[in-house]
Amino acid sequence: MGEGLVQIQPRDSYSLVEANLRCLRKLQLTESKSKSLSAVTMDATNFYTQFDSVMGENILNLVMGAPSESMLKMAASKFQQATIARMEGELPQWLMHYGAESGDGKFLTAMATFLSEEYGAPVAREDLVTTAGASMGLVLLANLLFTSSDLVFVENPTYFVATKVIGLDSGMTMVPVATDSGGINTDELEKALESKVGQRQRELTDRRPFWGMLYLVSTIHNPTGVSLTTERCRRVVELARKYNLLVVCDDVYNLLYFGDKPPHRLFQFDKKSDPDYKGNVVSNGTFSKVFGPGCRIGWLEAPKRVKEIVLSSGYMSSSGGWNHTMSGIMGSVINSGSLKEMLQIARPLYQEQCQMACEVLRTQLPGASFVEPHGGYFLWVRLPGNISGEEVAKRLKEQYNTLILNGSKCSITGDFKDCLRVTYSFNSKDRVRQGVENLVKVVKAMQAETA
Ligand SMILES: Cc1ncc(COP(=O)(O)O)c(C=O)c1O
Repeated sequence: MGEGLVQIQPRDSYSLVEANLRCLRKLQLTESKSKSLSAVTMDATNFYTQFDSVMGENILNLVMGAPSESMLKMAASKFQQATIARMEGELPQWLMHYGAESGDGKFLTAMATFLSEEYGAPVAREDLVTTAGASMGLVLLANLLFTSSDLVFVENPTYFVATKVIGLDSGMTMVPVATDSGGINTDELEKALESKVGQRQRELTDRRPFWGMLYLVSTIHNPTGVSLTTERCRRVVELARKYNLLVVCDDVYNLLYFGDKPPHRLFQFDKKSDPDYKGNVVSNGTFSKVFGPGCRIGWLEAPKRVKEIVLSSGYMSSSGGWNHTMSGIMGSVINSGSLKEMLQIARPLYQEQCQMACEVLRTQLPGASFVEPHGGYFLWVRLPGNISGEEVAKRLKEQYNTLILNGSKCSITGDFKDCLRVTYSFNSKDRVRQGVENLVKVVKAMQAETA
């Protein structure tokens, strides 16, 4: 039995739940997505969510990257209506069969129209493939198009679980690249590419045609909230073509922008009309952030050569299209206007909470620095005076039962030790305020100790 592995002897279902919760608490999992292999092995039959041990009235969770409870409730109700509508609609039995490889036709048509409107730029139906969410999209691309001897260039900082997916699950070697308020630093990216270009470990093949991967959250970044400038978008595409990279963009917060105009996407800079176009960018989308992560549904928007590899995989031959039943229901959610309605509620809600969190920091902790996000869920805060984010997170948990992600967890080099990621979306406005005020209290106490 590995370190931290818990074996539970259930007496009845109630004591099993209690025992499981006690054990999970003992494991002190502040973020169950980052828990060790040994901590994931218990029977989860009686749990509602992946995060049961780190949620509840007594825990203020500022780590959670999920829609607010109010939005999830709304999603449940919309989902119920859409399911009935779809199952009473045309030929529901075929939604229960193995699905078409790219996904349910009606869903893809609805998605292409919906995304074109929401992004303010055309999305072609033939570029779309249904997935079981962005994590799965990334796993799929890493495993189908690369081998474990390949390199993946990642932003520093980056989405902290993606590095587990590509580094741990796929075994690829990660190369960090610096970022700033304009997204990934393309000069640094070029230097990193140039320094590694001689290290190709294998011959390229039709099924694995790329030299390496570049993993980006180029629009409304997790954790920093910034987006790649248009100039850098152009440069990334040039570099991807020159060095034969597949750029995988987790486009998961794009629809949650604040303000009137949707942000641009890197995908649209890889223009099919360019004379040297081959298709080097994939947009990896999901309904997790805008509807509900429990649905486990997302999509790839991919160039033809990538889509062909995905659709002809053994995995897909065996399974048919992914999440077929769910995609039929999501098509109904979209066509009924429910998703649009939810976005119109979520955007101002999250924006208001974001502005409030920024205001608390500006007025109560002026030494902290941050770029005010233009969408998404997270505020990336640099603490004043080199204060340790890890120590702040530890004290917040011990003294205020408030959970926060310390910045170095978002870095494959362990940098950003004086940073924190604050989620403003998941909790109610009052709870977010309370959490940020707790943060201020802890930082001020630490400042007083060293004054
Ligand atoms: C950048 C990014 N990519 C992917 C995911 C996971 O997406 P999904 O739930 O669709 O697997 C998250 C969730 O936190 C995220 O922030």
